[in-house]
Amino acid sequence: MTATVRVTAPAKINLHLEVLGQRSDGFHELAMVMQSIDLADQLDCSNSADGLIQLSCDQPGLSCGSDNLVMRAAELLRQRSGFHELGAHLHLRKRIPIGAGLAGGSSDGAAALLALNTLWGLGHSQDQLLAMAAELGSDMPFCLAGGSQLCFGRGECLESVPAAAQSFGVVLVKDPSVSVSTPWAYGECRRLKGDHYLCDEDAFAQRRQQLRAAPWLHPLRTAEPPPLRNDLQDVVAPQTASVQTALRLLQGLPGQLRTAMSGSGPSCFALFANRLDADQALNAARDGFAQAGLDAWSCSFLAHGAKLMP
Ligand code: C5P
Repeated sequence: MTATVRVTAPAKINLHLEVLGQRSDGFHELAMVMQSIDLADQLDCSNSADGLIQLSCDQPGLSCGSDNLVMRAAELLRQRSGFHELGAHLHLRKRIPIGAGLAGGSSDGAAALLALNTLWGLGHSQDQLLAMAAELGSDMPFCLAGGSQLCFGRGECLESVPAAAQSFGVVLVKDPSVSVSTPWAYGECRRLKGDHYLCDEDAFAQRRQQLRAAPWLHPLRTAEPPPLRNDLQDVVAPQTASVQTALRLLQGLPGQLRTAMSGSGPSCFALFANRLDADQALNAARDGFAQAGLDAWSCSFLAHGAKLMP
C-alpha cells in the first residue's frame, strides 16, 4: 500500500445550466455544460493504523465531521471495500470558496474517492468510482471526470465534449459573506418557472440532442464563445444583491467575452480569450472588486478533474 497520496481537486463553472423539468425523485432534470478551472483544493491522505478516518482542514470554519463530502466519500469507499479496519488521515487545503456554486465540496469528495482508492490499493475502476460519486452528489461524477462535459439527468450522466481549441481565461468573483442554498435555488426555480417545465422524457431527449449539436461546442473557441446560460441565475440574481453587483462589474471589464453566474451562485465569472487578458482585467479592477466586498481570482480552463499529483 502507498504511504501518502496527494490529489488536486479543481472547481467547476457552468457554461450552460438549463433546468428541463422536475423528476419523480424530486430532483430536477438538467442539461448542462460544465467546465473545470484551475482554482483547486488539495487533499493529502496517509494511512492510519487505528482504523479511524479523520479529516483536518486549513479553513477553521469548515466542518470536518460526517457531513463533509470527503468523510462521506471515505466511509462509502471503505464500506464497499469490505475492509472495515482501513483507516486514513486526510488533510484538506481549501482554495475554492465555500457555498459558491463552484462544486468545491463535491470536488473534495471526488478527490477523496480517487486518493483512497489509490492509498488503500482497492483497484476500483474509473466507472466504479463514478458510480459511487453519483450516489454522493449530483455534481460529483463531473468533478471526478472533469474537463469539458455535457451533464444530463440530475447532473451525473456525463458525455465529454471536445477540448477547447485554446484555454479561455476566467475572472471569478464572490462575496465571502454570502452563500446560496442549492435546494432553495431549485425550489425558487420551480416556483417561478415550473409552469414552463418540459413534462416527458421525449421532450428531455429532444433538448439533450439540441445541446449536443450546439455549434459553439465543437470545440469551444473564442471566435464563437459559449453563449452562457444559467436558468438558476434568473431566479437567484433578482434576490441576491452581490450577484447583481458581481455581474455588473464583470460586464464592465475590458476584454470580457461573456458573463454569468455559476451553478446556484453566488459566484459569477467572465470569460476572456486567454489567461493573460483575464490577469490584466483582474489587476485593473482589483480595487473596484475589493470596494464592492468581492473576492476575485483569475484562472484558466482545465482539461481534467480530480487528479493524483506526483
Ligand atoms: O445532489 P446534491 O446533493 O448535490 O443536490 C443538492 C440539492 O440540490 C438537492 O437536494 C436538490 O434540492 C437540488 N437539486 C435538484 N436537482 C438536481 C440537483 C440538485 O433539485 N439535478
